[in-house]
Amino acid sequence: MSVPTSSAQWSSRLGFILAAAGSAIGLGAIWKFPYWAGANGGAAFILPYILFTFTAGVVLVMAELALGRSGRGSAVEAMRRAGGRGFAWCGGMAVLTSFLILSYYAVVGGWCAAYLAEALMGEAASSDPEVLKMRFGELVSSGGRNIAWLFAFLAAVCLTAVFGVHRGIERLSTCLMPIFFLLMIGLAAYSLLLPGSEAGLAYLFQFSWSTVTPQAILNAMGFTFFSLSLGAGVLVTYGAYVNKSTRLPAAAMWVAILALQAAILAGLVIMPAVFAYGLEPDAGPGLVFITLPMIFAQLSGGSVVAVIFYFCLFVAALTSAVSLLEVAVAFLQNECRFSRRAAVFLCFAALFILGSVSALSFGPWSDCLIFGRSIFDFLDYVCTNFLMTINGLAVAFVVGWKAWPKAMKELSTCSPENGVVTKGTLSAIGFGLRWLAPLMVLASCWQGLEA
Ligand code: PHE
Repeated sequence: MSVPTSSAQWSSRLGFILAAAGSAIGLGAIWKFPYWAGANGGAAFILPYILFTFTAGVVLVMAELALGRSGRGSAVEAMRRAGGRGFAWCGGMAVLTSFLILSYYAVVGGWCAAYLAEALMGEAASSDPEVLKMRFGELVSSGGRNIAWLFAFLAAVCLTAVFGVHRGIERLSTCLMPIFFLLMIGLAAYSLLLPGSEAGLAYLFQFSWSTVTPQAILNAMGFTFFSLSLGAGVLVTYGAYVNKSTRLPAAAMWVAILALQAAILAGLVIMPAVFAYGLEPDAGPGLVFITLPMIFAQLSGGSVVAVIFYFCLFVAALTSAVSLLEVAVAFLQNECRFSRRAAVFLCFAALFILGSVSALSFGPWSDCLIFGRSIFDFLDYVCTNFLMTINGLAVAFVVGWKAWPKAMKELSTCSPENGVVTKGTLSAIGFGLRWLAPLMVLASCWQGLEA
């Protein structure tokens, strides 16, 4: 089938960078990073994460963007054009991956919406950890509430997507990402001023070889992947909307810097407070929903701050979810000739059904286990450990080996006022893509098998 090329475009370089950063900065950075860092020994996790971000990670971001910009269509089209017909199915797998991720990601997005609503009613903050733990437990285990919030979250995601690339996704990110950063900086400052917060800082940044384990390093690889939105076709799809005057390597670097900053900021908001209140740093997924409300209870004007924070968390989840949805929407538009509206609607229905299954796996269906994991955990496990990594490998192979001359051209294409990409930079990217990225991808896949 001949495929129409994409006509949608970001209106500016900044708009694109903020949208891509909005995709990268999500629940991974704010919800997952602090507790993963906690569970993996703090600095022993963070340092490899920084290292991987600026080596294999950023190189893969560049590769996905180049693939997308030269493909000018969906992830399937991009893979087909760069790798030949046989690789189109890799693009299809990326579409499936983003779809599956979104189905369970939206469940947690629903929790964020629920906490935002509670904050708006002035009920989010409490200084009693037991009350907070119970409240979180009740929300998560109630099938009805979980599904209702899932519905609300998906509705917000789909509404943004209906407005399109420029008027929906880009506008949302350009308005909200700067506000998000300002607020997070403010919260981190407050958290750092709490008596006893130094222990949290030391925990995050004091490096000691004794805490370094192969597991922590491999987990950091996996996290780098997730946090940069790699291996799910998102950056390929977003790349298709980038104009030819943008210098892709520089844009990718910005996305990586912003994603890293957001994760570190989230760590700085949470860990100092965790230590100041004598809580466990490896308490798990509840940290954002249990620890932060305690900080809010101590702040003057805390209820307002709570509203702002959960709004930010909701926005972070929303901009990432929108990017995940865009992969499937672009696919349906380009490959199946759906209108944007119809594509969004179909995805909404399918995601709601699949997402409900994940939502129920916390409560009524918690006994239903697949290979010893709940449905939600199983989907997360398969997507992050296998599907995303295999997609990453396919991108590294196609861009780094199969279509490298074409990719080099794409990576160095930009208008003269946006600078030049030197030969040295290109060969460094090529090396990273051919050797470092596949190694990192294979290692985190192997870790998935061990887990
Ligand atoms: N990067 C997002 C986050 O950290 C998750 C994501 C993964 C989004 C893959 C798009 C694609 O929350």
